[in-house]
Amino acid sequence: MSKRFTITAALPYTNGPIHIGHLAGVYVPADIYARYLRLQGHDVAFICGSDEHGVPITIKAKKEGITPQDVVDRYHENIKTSFEDFGISFDNYSRTSAKTHHQTASEFFKALYDKGEFIEEVTEQLYDAEANQFLADRFVVGTCPKCGYEESYGDQCEACGTTHNATDLINPKSAITGAIPTLKETKHWFLPLDKHEAFLKEWILDGHKADWKPNVYGQCKSWIDEGLRPRAVTRDLDWGIPVPVEGGDGKVLYVWFDAPIGYISSTKEWAQRQGKDWKPYWKDEDTTLVHFIGKDNIVFHCIMFPAMLKAEGSYILPKNVPANEFLNLEGQKLSTSKNWAVWLPEYLKDFPEKQDVLRYVLTATAPETKDNDFTWKDFQARNNNELVAIFGNFINRVVVLTNKYYSGQVPNPNALSDIDKETLEKVKAFPDSLSKSIERYRFREASQELMNLARLGNKYLADEEPWKIIKTDPERVQTILYVALQISAALAIVSEPFLPASSQKLKTMLQLPTHSWLAVKSGATLLEPAHQIGTASLLFAKIENAEIEQQLEKLAQSKLENKIANKVVEPQKETVSFEEFSKLDIRLGTIISAEKMPKTKKLLVLQVDTGIDIRTIVSGIAESFTAESVVGKRVTVLVNLAPRALRGIESQGMILMTETPEGKLVFVNPDLAHGTTNGLKIS
Ligand code: 2FM
Ligand code: ZN
Repeated sequence: MSKRFTITAALPYTNGPIHIGHLAGVYVPADIYARYLRLQGHDVAFICGSDEHGVPITIKAKKEGITPQDVVDRYHENIKTSFEDFGISFDNYSRTSAKTHHQTASEFFKALYDKGEFIEEVTEQLYDAEANQFLADRFVVGTCPKCGYEESYGDQCEACGTTHNATDLINPKSAITGAIPTLKETKHWFLPLDKHEAFLKEWILDGHKADWKPNVYGQCKSWIDEGLRPRAVTRDLDWGIPVPVEGGDGKVLYVWFDAPIGYISSTKEWAQRQGKDWKPYWKDEDTTLVHFIGKDNIVFHCIMFPAMLKAEGSYILPKNVPANEFLNLEGQKLSTSKNWAVWLPEYLKDFPEKQDVLRYVLTATAPETKDNDFTWKDFQARNNNELVAIFGNFINRVVVLTNKYYSGQVPNPNALSDIDKETLEKVKAFPDSLSKSIERYRFREASQELMNLARLGNKYLADEEPWKIIKTDPERVQTILYVALQISAALAIVSEPFLPASSQKLKTMLQLPTHSWLAVKSGATLLEPAHQIGTASLLFAKIENAEIEQQLEKLAQSKLENKIANKVVEPQKETVSFEEFSKLDIRLGTIISAEKMPKTKKLLVLQVDTGIDIRTIVSGIAESFTAESVVGKRVTVLVNLAPRALRGIESQGMILMTETPEGKLVFVNPDLAHGTTNGLKIS
């Protein structure tokens, strides 16, 4: 039976492009789910848009000397285009600066205000006198009262995920000027979450223990158990939706009040374009509402937004909020500021036509139950060993052989063997097992099950070896290829939610008539005998080492740039007198021979021609230079340093070294480039 679904994907902040963390956590699973539901014939509204308010956007604008509107215009287009190019099948992608949204959010606020659902209170809030600005959300950092993280934001701690009021922070500091804030009175509207505690307890703790993911349920339980407090839903800022009630001048709605309402306004925009009524998608109890989000958004989607919807009274609540954990990259936390990410626009440029590869890898390694790691080597291996070697190889053999033996016409099968029957029975079971995984939001498991169907086909061909018996038993080969073609068709149909572009390519290759998911389940003939298929083209192409190395090189570059940007320049040492300095006898010399000191990691034993004599100097530079590479080098030598024995060898001087901005050790010599900093190294 066809059902109505409203599927939302977290509205991304419009202050940077989309990266693989966003894709793995939210957009790929949401897209698989929406495509799957559409394939079942359900009525689906898959909704998203840009989250264009909030302090991070104002901060970015300040930093770049442009307006917040400039920032959101730039990234809205960037994000929207890359989602389209990547094949995320939103029914609508809106933005929270849209007029419909401002209206919808204002009306929502007014409705709660009119119902007396807010507490209106004058309280003391953090204030930066230097910047003449109240400090809310990301304008203030301080120590998290819960976990002790020292860089917690005013509204949420990124380390432990807790949300709090800015005044809860210990040792708060303005993120604008660095000043210690003072307290200043201001009026705000608070949503009394404590008032909704009983309902939230019943709805989540009693109602969703069994069907919500343990990570989501667990977070909700711990917040509710700790006791909920009123949360301010307005801010003293000038970027956002003006507070639409008396006394609201100069104030805007808290970004986390307006953003989730963005799902509703985006649905309205879509419905209007389609000539539909938006209301059933948000107000009809028969509609299933599902929010796809990352774990840092759980509190807002499971506590705050439902409390708002409930307080308003005419909306449905989400049936599920399948939040994912975080994805790391090459063992390190993704970070926009450190440029430690794989950015979607760059990926699409570097790997055009490989959208499905990234979708597959991010699904196969999705951070569904715990944080997970993306590595380029794994990306290559999953492409080459799974998509190419299993899925692509199977399809290629079937299509090539059908063309070769039967000019591309599906052969008439003869009597089916037990293996054929068993294989076709197994194929019939895949739609159900895939559905089961997808409907439980286990996309990772589902992607492996899909690959198992390709494995089944591959194994069937490898076992039956039609190419070996074509001369001796052509009748059997007809049956084998008939069966293999049915498996190929099943793959084309059930792979659509996971690999939409490849599924389409395969359908074209097979000239496959339209079939439903149910057709595969029922075991119906998907490709009739005598049906003409197309010619073979590669579904997936091998990824070479050089392509992966190029990506790793990019990351290495980010690491280096970060190192340079964050390099702490050692402060100038204590002043020495001229007399003290003039005691140092520094000469230019040449290394005439060098050898590694046995059983040490760091030491080289050098013979250095100082112009006075040839002497032994033991230098701790073996981690940066090989013995061979330093022979012949011109070096600066402190020749009157008191000799000292190192591992039984007397060192009669010191080679002067310094560091390049990249942290590489180099010899101090007259040819050294300008800008070599950080003082002399004792080597
Ligand atoms: O975390 C984020 O990127 C937020 N912009 C998500 C908002 S989701 C919804 F409520 F709009
Ligand atoms: Zn914390």
